[in-house]
Amino acid sequence: MTERTLAIVKPDGVAKNLVGEVVRRFEAAGLRVVALKMVRLDRREAEGFYHVHKERPFFPSLVDFMISGPIVPMVLEGEDAIARTRRLMGATDPAKADPGTIRRDHAASIEKNIVHGSDSPATAGFEIGYFFNALEIPPR
Ligand code: CMP
Repeated sequence: MTERTLAIVKPDGVAKNLVGEVVRRFEAAGLRVVALKMVRLDRREAEGFYHVHKERPFFPSLVDFMISGPIVPMVLEGEDAIARTRRLMGATDPAKADPGTIRRDHAASIEKNIVHGSDSPATAGFEIGYFFNALEIPPR
């Protein structure tokens, strides 16, 4: 099924000059970028994006990290886009990520892990709407 998902190049990815490399990997795998922008979140915006994690011990540090610099959210479209994006990213912890994945090749830690990708259709709907309004996303 053709799906859309939200991916983000996180502040560490932007700082390491990996925006193009991350987009290249998604495109090379056949995913299509249908929306993309660079933004810098404030604390309230980052807390809202990661609200499902607000009780987790890593939440304050995660929010600090996500507001430490600009990020590049994008909407990816393709067959099975959610699972395929997550396979290309690799496991959250780069030490556990498969060889050849974005996180295994580039991430420094479980927190500074270069990329984010939606984990389900419901999450993708929320996350795409968090960053992009209707005018910024092409109709299907
Ligand atoms: P992400 O896929 O964006 O979803 C939540 C983020 O929290 C995760 O990537 C990591 O950047 C961060 N994080 C930090 N510590 C942990 C942890 N122990 N378990 C899961 N995620 C963590």
